Amino acid sequence: MAAIRFNDINASQVWAKLHQHQRATRYVAMRELFEADPQRFERFSLKLDGLLLDYSKNRISERTLELLLELADVADLSGWMARMRAGERINVSENRAVLHTALRLPKDAVLEVEGRNIVADVHEELARIRDFSRRVRSGLWRGHDGRAVTDVVNLGIGGSDLGPLLATEALAPYAQGGPRLHYVSNVDPAHLARTLARLDPATTLFIIASKSFTTPETLLNAQAARRWFVERVSEAAIDKHFVAVSTNEAAVAGFGIDAANRFGFWDWVGGRYSVWSTVGLSVMLAVGPECFDELLAGAHAMDEHFFNAPFQVNMPVLLALIGIWYNTFYGAHTHAIMPYDHGLRRLPAHIQQLDMESNGKRVGRYGERLDFDTGPVIWGEEGVNSQHAFFQLLHQGTRLVPCDFIVPMQGHYDASQHQVLVANAFAQTEALMRGKTGTEAMAELAGMDGEVLDMLAPQKTFPGNQPSNTLALDKVTPHSLGMLLALYEHKVFVQGAIWGLNSFDQWGVEYGKALARTILPELNPGKNVGVHDSSTTGLISHYRQLHEH
Ligand code: F6P
Repeated sequence: MAAIRFNDINASQVWAKLHQHQRATRYVAMRELFEADPQRFERFSLKLDGLLLDYSKNRISERTLELLLELADVADLSGWMARMRAGERINVSENRAVLHTALRLPKDAVLEVEGRNIVADVHEELARIRDFSRRVRSGLWRGHDGRAVTDVVNLGIGGSDLGPLLATEALAPYAQGGPRLHYVSNVDPAHLARTLARLDPATTLFIIASKSFTTPETLLNAQAARRWFVERVSEAAIDKHFVAVSTNEAAVAGFGIDAANRFGFWDWVGGRYSVWSTVGLSVMLAVGPECFDELLAGAHAMDEHFFNAPFQVNMPVLLALIGIWYNTFYGAHTHAIMPYDHGLRRLPAHIQQLDMESNGKRVGRYGERLDFDTGPVIWGEEGVNSQHAFFQLLHQGTRLVPCDFIVPMQGHYDASQHQVLVANAFAQTEALMRGKTGTEAMAELAGMDGEVLDMLAPQKTFPGNQPSNTLALDKVTPHSLGMLLALYEHKVFVQGAIWGLNSFDQWGVEYGKALARTILPELNPGKNVGVHDSSTTGLISHYRQLHEH
């Protein structure tokens, strides 16, 4: 079948067939599908190394997948995968290649992009952060008064914060005596102030992590941290306490950081895909270079699977297609992520940025308007806390909410308590799928008085048919975490490729940055206020009144 050159994927025959198929099957109950097919789990699950994907609790049949796979072909998914992998400039609006997969290639691999083997560049910078991390972790790197580093503060936001923070927390059991890590992202001065209040400048190392080195939140925090340090120590000691991770050599030098203390990366690494680059320095400091290498190896294993496995047994492709089935054809607005692992509690926030910044788009890669629903609202919370917060709506609310349950089969701490966690996760997926019929509810209430029964039975009825994927990891290790994060990256890529959009720019976020620049000076009493709507003008004057005296 010829691939579509321009983005009229929604004009394709298979698009119409998928709509038709959704209309014909939307009332099918998953519990009946399970009853009719004892092999459903075997048919709709997939194992890769220490990772099992159970996607059987979805409103899908073999036919659904057949149509979705056809959609992937029509959208030329394999062509887009090859273009990304080879380093073509598929981020058209920024004229950049998209090569986070190159960051996890082994040292002996070769990837020539526009005449240069970028794997050599990647490993050169990796070697530098490995060396630096070893020195800091072993105490060879010393602060101004000769003491070793006990605390590291990573100053960054978005991709320069979320991925590293998640990985540091998830891999905490592997820290083995490394320094304590602190992540400061918010421009709210409380974030930095509360962090610094607990630290000794003489044993603190700051990493300024900013791809662009122009992000106002990060630069303001970096300047405030610098002032805090200089007031307590000295300007001359900055070299021993501040390093930077950035692509912007000149701005880092302008800030007063020595070239030897700058770790670089490249414009072909998107911020939300940057944890694998030197942006991962904080993770490496926390868990050591060997663990970080394992994280990269796990991600690379997922890349190999993604680029080589046939689509019908390809984990990221299947997750993406099932997501499209709900977002685009069922009109589901949201997608919930529930890690049943305290260390993975920031996973929903990381995936939120990864997915929503990538696929929160209404225009295709050629600038055309997309007349269908694209990226969902991603949200979630660690299990079991989420059960006591919002699961009521999942069980008995009116909305379709596809969910991902991420469940390690083994924990790092008490095994019997961990088993309770696993039982909760499995029970929730079962209950969400099965529900409880009115007849079942009535049977449970047998013996009750007629009127009370009529009132109670509907309240104890659960519609079920709420879909979920379960990602069962043997254990959260650097390797399995690498696989998991790369799995979501590729899922997002596949969805963007099929919807025909550019997953690698973020003009909406750039717009937000510009808006604050206009209002900031207007908050000062006595300054001119430009033309705004009456609400914004009212809020500005409310602020100014409070600050006038
Ligand atoms: O949120 C927008 C964004 O550009 C993200 O994509 C990026 O991760 C974040 O800002 C931080 O950017 P930088 O690393 O350049 O400071």
